[in-house]
Amino acid sequence: MYGPILKGKKVILQPAKLSEAKQYLTWLNDYEVTKYISSKSDLTLDQEKEFLKNKKIDNEVYWSVYTKSGKHIGSTGLHNYSPTHKRTSWGIMIGDKSEWNKGYGTDILRTVMAYAFNKLKLNRFELEVFHKNIAGLKCYAKCGFKKEGVRRDFFMKNNEVYDSIMMSVLRDEYKN
Ligand SMILES: CC(C)(COP(=O)(O)OP(=O)(O)OC[C@H]1O[C@@H](n2cnc3c(N)ncnc32)[C@H](O)[C@@H]1OP(=O)(O)O)[C@@H](O)C(=O)NCCC(=O)NCCS
Repeated sequence: MYGPILKGKKVILQPAKLSEAKQYLTWLNDYEVTKYISSKSDLTLDQEKEFLKNKKIDNEVYWSVYTKSGKHIGSTGLHNYSPTHKRTSWGIMIGDKSEWNKGYGTDILRTVMAYAFNKLKLNRFELEVFHKNIAGLKCYAKCGFKKEGVRRDFFMKNNEVYDSIMMSVLRDEYKN
């Protein structure tokens, strides 16, 4: 499902529109954007539209990400959200490369964390990141994530093998 509109310091998170499908397809076919994401790269426009229409999966919550000046820069979402266990995993793609390293990723993550801990009352917020994704690792460390394990040779992308770094923030750590 799509999440409610959330406002951060620099971004606005809102439900995706079908008119964004072409843009998502361009980003998903960009090798640099998807280098460290376990995404499909051979989607058609119709498949992407279907995907945007059908985001009614119980344990997934999606948003399109816009800057405060109204520029669509990517997407983010909760994955494997479990109300029962009060935990979620999380993912992000800033598809517009010209907007990397400007603090948007950090603001998006902080905005979603606030929603997860304050509104959904979760106890645990986790993510996984390719071990060579330096921007991601730095961004997540800035947001208080602790490394809790490594899944060796977990991801395979473009014939390269990557470890998965597992990171999390717990409720008490978020509050303090
Ligand atoms: C990874 C991603 C979410 C980070 O978001 P962002 O807006 O670019 O990141 P931020 O600007 O908030 O923070 C990035 C930090 O990494 C640093 N950084 C980026 N590339 C770096 C590099 N090659 N070496 C060292 N530091 C680097 C930046 O300087 C910044 O740190 P600072 O604030 O201390 O200066 C974003 O780049 C992205 O979506 N990339 C493509 C998809 C992807 O990889 N998704 C993540 C899957 S887990």
